[in-house]
Amino acid sequence: MNLRRQPIVQAAVVLVAAYVLFEYVIGYGLPLVGVSSAPVPQTVILQYMAIVIVGVLVYFSADEARWKSFMQPVRDTLTLPDRRVPRGLLMVAIPVMAGWMTYQNVRLSFGAPATLRSIHPAPPGEITFRGEPITLTGLENPLRSSGSMEEHIALGRSIYTVNCVPCHGDRMDGEGHFAPAFNPVPADFTSGGVLPQLTESFVFWRIVKGGPGLPTEGTPWDSAMPAWENILEQHEIWATIIYLYEQTGFSPRTWHEAEGEAH
Ligand code: HEC
Repeated sequence: MNLRRQPIVQAAVVLVAAYVLFEYVIGYGLPLVGVSSAPVPQTVILQYMAIVIVGVLVYFSADEARWKSFMQPVRDTLTLPDRRVPRGLLMVAIPVMAGWMTYQNVRLSFGAPATLRSIHPAPPGEITFRGEPITLTGLENPLRSSGSMEEHIALGRSIYTVNCVPCHGDRMDGEGHFAPAFNPVPADFTSGGVLPQLTESFVFWRIVKGGPGLPTEGTPWDSAMPAWENILEQHEIWATIIYLYEQTGFSPRTWHEAEGEAH
């Protein structure tokens, strides 16, 4: 039996050649002819391959005799008594391969999603806190104009130490013990790009609603930031915010500045 004459072998050669062409030649540009290309996405390669498979099947099934000889090895393997061993192997190999591919597809991956994430998405104008509406626009930290600053800071410190240190770290640099497990990583409050850029109401919103409350531009990056709404009281959150600014030495962005930028 001449293998090269076997239609099914010919079909396999065409498929492999097409795959190599799409994945490695076109996918990495055509360096030999000086053409470079961005990597071709897997979904596009899959589509190309589907077209090639249809083309191959159309070619072999267009002629009755060709189709018969194309199918012959399949029929033989499935029926002939002396093909029992390859038949048995295929019966095991095909389900194992299907299972492996399914596993690869559903397996959790820790890679970064392909879409970009907006780190500071526009906050909503209004939120609810345990069902009660709060207007964020123009909202100031109520504790700054009431009670004793020392007490607010002391309360904020104890809230931060108990609840936030595991992720945001005892130096507030986002390097808590849990931090390496998360992507996106916990916010680094010592960075000039975080607290000074944000109004206290923005920080309040982020603490109240956490990762689950991020609008769509903040997803599909799954933020591990918890929503503290049902754990902390409002004044505890405001006190934590005072502590964050006090400890890092930054001042919050004011509504005046925020407005100036919008104009
Ligand atoms: C389980 C880990 C975890 C804990 C606990 C946690 N955070 Fe976060 N936090 C994150 C992650 C991850 C991010 C970054 C992604 C995001 O912005 O949602 C974040 C972001 C934030 C932001 C947004 C910063 C920005 O740049 O917009 C604030 C504010 C914040 N955390 C405050 C807190 C406070 C206050 C506590 C404690 C009451 C706390 N976090 C506890 C994981 C955590």
